[in-house]
Amino acid sequence: MKLNIAVLAGDGIGHEIVRQGMKAVKAVCQKSGHELSYEEALVGAVAIDAFGNPYPDATHELCMRSDAVFFGAIGDPKYDNNPSAKVRPEQGLLAMRKKLGLYANIRPVTAFPSLIHKSPLRADLVENADFMCIRELTGGLYFGRPQGRSEDGNTAYDTCIYAREEIDRIIRLAYQYAQKRRKKLTVVDKANVLATSRLWRQVAQEIEKDYPDVETDYMFVDNAAMRIIQWPKSFDVLVTENMFGDILTDEASVITGSLGMLPSASIGIHTSVFEPIHGSYPQAAGKNIANPLATVLSAALMFEYAFNLPKEGALIRQAVDASMTAGIVTEDIASGSHASSTEEVGDWIANYIANR
Ligand code: IPM
Ligand code: MG
Repeated sequence: MKLNIAVLAGDGIGHEIVRQGMKAVKAVCQKSGHELSYEEALVGAVAIDAFGNPYPDATHELCMRSDAVFFGAIGDPKYDNNPSAKVRPEQGLLAMRKKLGLYANIRPVTAFPSLIHKSPLRADLVENADFMCIRELTGGLYFGRPQGRSEDGNTAYDTCIYAREEIDRIIRLAYQYAQKRRKKLTVVDKANVLATSRLWRQVAQEIEKDYPDVETDYMFVDNAAMRIIQWPKSFDVLVTENMFGDILTDEASVITGSLGMLPSASIGIHTSVFEPIHGSYPQAAGKNIANPLATVLSAALMFEYAFNLPKEGALIRQAVDASMTAGIVTEDIASGSHASSTEEVGDWIANYIANR
C-alpha cells in the first residue's frame, strides 16, 4: 500500500519525538512492504518565525493532499508569557483542526502494567483501566465569536456556541465506538448551568434511542472529574464538548503514570491528524530526554485509523510494550537510576520492529 504522510513536528520537543515516531513508521513500512512517502512542513511558533502565520497555506495544502498528518507539538514560552501577542502558536493548531474539519478527538486511556507504580492512584484503582475520551474539537468556547476585550481593557469575553449538527455527529460517533467496546457511553456536560450543555443533553437523549444496545449515562463535568480519579474503571467511552474534553483528558492521562504516554487521533471531514496529547515541553527541548512513546503510539493509531492496517498498528504497540518491559524508557517513567534517551528509545523500538 502507498502511504503518503504530512509530517508537522512543530515546536519544543516536537522534532525529537516525531523523529522517533517516524523511525517506527519506516520500520513497519519496510517490514510490511508499504511504500512510504512523506513531506515535512512548519506549524506553530516556528511557522510564525518563518512566515508570520502559525498554520501557513502551504502547510494546509500539504495536509489536504496527504493521507494522514503526523503531528508533534506546538507552543513556545515566549508567547505563554505575553498575553498581548497578536499571533499565537496555538492558533495554528486550532486553525488546522477547523480547516481540516477535525471535529472528533479520540484519546484512549489505558493503564500499562509496567507503569502502574508511577500512577498517583492506588494500583487496584488503575489496573486494567481502559477507556476512551472523545472530545468535540471544532466548536464551543475555543472557536465561538465574539471573543475579546472591552475598549477600556477591563472586561473580557468568550462565547460558547454549539449547533445541533455539531453535537449530533459527535454523539453518534461516540455511540459507534461504544458499540465496538463494552457498550457503555458517558455523556459529560454541565446541563445544570449551561444552555449549550442542555442542548447537548437533549440531542444525546434523542440519539440514545437509536443505540438500544449501549447503556448511556449522563454526568456533570465536575462529577466526572471526580469519578475519573475515584473509579477510572467505571468508564468505557466518554464524550464531551471541547473545553471539558481538553481538561478531562489531561487529568485522565496521569492515571496511566505519565502524560508522556497518551496518543490521540483527530478525525473528521478531511485528513486525520495523529499527535501525542502532551504538548511542546519546552524545558526538555533539545535535551534528548522527552518520552517519545505517546508519539510512537500515535503512529500506531495512524496505521489503524487512517490506513486501516491493524496488524501494523499492533506491531508498534507490541514494540512499545516490549521497550517498557525491557526497561528501555525515558526518565519520566524509568524505575531506578537508569534512563534511556529519546533517541535510544526510538532506535530500540525501530530495531524491535525490524527483527519481528
Ligand atoms: C490539546 C492542547 C491544545 C488544546 C492547545 C495547545 C491549544 O491543550 O490538544 O489538548 O487546547 O486543544
Ligand atoms: Mg490540552
